[in-house]
Amino acid sequence: MTLPTKFPKDFKFGTATAAYQIEGSKTLDGRGFSTWDAIRSEYGRIRDNSNPELSCESRLKYKEDVELLAKIGVTSYRFSISWSRILPNGTLSEISEDGIQYYRDLCLLLRDNQIEPIVTLFHFDMPLAIYDNGTSWLNKQNCDHFADFADLCFQKFGDLVKTWITYNEINMQAWSSVVKLEGEQWLCPDRPQIENHQHAPYIAAANMLIAHAKIYRNYEKNYKETQNGIIGITNGGHFCIPASDSPEDKEASDRALNWLFTCTLDPILSDSGDFPVSMRQKLPFLPKFSDEEKKMIRGSLDFLGINYYLSHSVRGITDDETPNSQSERDGSYSLVEGKWEKICGETWIRYAPDGLLMLLKYVKEKYNNIPLLITENGCPDYVRKEGEAEKTVEEILNDKHRIKYISGHLEVVAKALESGCNVIGYTVWSLMDNFEWDDGFELRFGLCRVDFDSPEKTRTMKQSAMFYQKFIREFKKHH
Ligand code: NOJ
Repeated sequence: MTLPTKFPKDFKFGTATAAYQIEGSKTLDGRGFSTWDAIRSEYGRIRDNSNPELSCESRLKYKEDVELLAKIGVTSYRFSISWSRILPNGTLSEISEDGIQYYRDLCLLLRDNQIEPIVTLFHFDMPLAIYDNGTSWLNKQNCDHFADFADLCFQKFGDLVKTWITYNEINMQAWSSVVKLEGEQWLCPDRPQIENHQHAPYIAAANMLIAHAKIYRNYEKNYKETQNGIIGITNGGHFCIPASDSPEDKEASDRALNWLFTCTLDPILSDSGDFPVSMRQKLPFLPKFSDEEKKMIRGSLDFLGINYYLSHSVRGITDDETPNSQSERDGSYSLVEGKWEKICGETWIRYAPDGLLMLLKYVKEKYNNIPLLITENGCPDYVRKEGEAEKTVEEILNDKHRIKYISGHLEVVAKALESGCNVIGYTVWSLMDNFEWDDGFELRFGLCRVDFDSPEKTRTMKQSAMFYQKFIREFKKHH
């Protein structure tokens, strides 16, 4: 393999997980409930109606997980700290020392194994108590609670954690989860009403950006000198490609990219310090940042995290059809054409590594070559079609398509580095099979298989884990 030699010595090769997707132990450490406990307990909410108790039990089996990481040889591990495990009510009114001890133990063990922790502070699970109190990201007070939580994390883990990510997929969180929870009014029927649900994603995005900036500025002022860490944000990386050379398609594709990707980055990274112009023109209700907020938000980023899974082919539509909500856009705007290969049956995952290359180059040009960390990339085992036989364990472990997927994207990252993109790391989603949100256990992204039916939740390395192990071994040998 010559590919591993194309990466610089300090390049981070990692895998990722998220607290709610792997931890289990819902009440241990005095953990409070989160929004996803509520979503999961509602029958019919999760596609496969999977049992809420089913999980990887990583809270109890973290030592085994670190052993696996060490065996694969990764140099970094991205995980999230569960806000509810540290602050059961979401606020500083109650702090779980056991929760803190758990994450310290995990970080210490990672350190013993020379694996760098990369910590996400918010990966989709908000403490239910504060959600119930005030409509999640639509409520500025919850943003302050989040800033308090982040501050506590800096105090308690800052000696061990040097790379922080405030939000996982801030853009997707603003678009989908807010719409999902707020729009359908099922989780918290008594909460204050917002004027128009179409406004929700934009209000959420603005509030989340303000909270992010507060957290960044707090770290800069109070912790940077002593802890010397860096703070990033992860955006869902959807690249948009015009379906043809026509000016309409080109214009539509640029606009789609603004809506899907740059919306949550321009306020931080562009000279204007504001949402993209095309959004300002089309959405009169887009929240306005005060001068003070703009100043606080602009430049509040040390690196950009990107989760990359797919790109969109976009065709132009008439102005009247201009979408201003997620559902409209999905239906009529971003068309994924058959030109990309589907990697595993009928799922949203496409094998489109070229889109990643275009995205990395785009970010390099647009955002002054900011350091880029690929915080997620991966694909599921397969999606079973009606009437199709289930794959055997042996077939699952022999996941050649995942090896193709990962190596295809690594090749692209090497090309991006060659063309001067400032990529600092690549992270496979995920270390192991886990709870895939709306899709329950139907979609399994692990490098390692988890036998959810066994009391031990046995982990077994798939062929892709062995491929990654070999790849990293070659990389280390080269340096
Ligand atoms: C992005 C999310 O961050 C992660 O939680 C999810 O499991 C993967 N994509 C796969 O859908």
